[in-house]
Amino acid sequence: MTDPESLPNRGKGLLITFEGPEGSGKTTLIRSLAQKLDGIGATPVLVREPGGTAIGEQIRNILLDLASEGMCAETELLLMVASRAQLIRETIRPALAEDKIVLCDRFADASVAYQGFGRGLGTGTVHALNAIALGGLQPDLTLLCLLPPHLGRMRLKTRITDRLDRETVEFHERVFSGYLAMSESDDSRFRTLDASAAPEVVMEQAVQELRKVEHRLLYTL
Ligand code: TMP
Repeated sequence: MTDPESLPNRGKGLLITFEGPEGSGKTTLIRSLAQKLDGIGATPVLVREPGGTAIGEQIRNILLDLASEGMCAETELLLMVASRAQLIRETIRPALAEDKIVLCDRFADASVAYQGFGRGLGTGTVHALNAIALGGLQPDLTLLCLLPPHLGRMRLKTRITDRLDRETVEFHERVFSGYLAMSESDDSRFRTLDASAAPEVVMEQAVQELRKVEHRLLYTL
């Protein structure tokens, strides 16, 4: 494992992760937030998981390809973590060392929710593997877009395109309960947003939370 001490200095950067079930609008939220940050000259680095690097995007293709139907849960977890390890070392750590704001569409908590709860691999196994990828890095803020899975599925009706979108309702219910359990157990980092509200309302909730963790943005954002 890479010695965390050998990773680039964290600097004054900020890592903000976005989580939530499918169809919860987090990708739209990230785009709006990025525009707003752009507007005040705090251009953020936008990344997504799985993926976000050339290697990670190849891993993403394997993970989401409908042809990967036979993938076992353990392989799925290891590939998610592999993509994360690459993204952190190649992009996130260097950006934080340059004091940048990183907006990450899903991160380590997604593996806890999807593989730990959804696939039933358990949180202990996921935390142990995540630790290899994270090397001590934790988000400063995790915005959890909460939307009951059946509503998310309705929004997505026209977009059942990848292997995980195709999972059963029961699977997505377990993922949702995993997210809920995590947000209730770690309120120092998690903030829940009501994703059933209008996009501009969700955006305002997100901005408020961002101001709280980053005082430099208090009067500008
Ligand atoms: P996306 O649709 O938000 O781009 O995410 C791709 C899929 O990958 C989504 O169904 C959630 C899933 N996923 C996991 O199962 N575990 C993980 O660790 C991550 C990051 C994503």
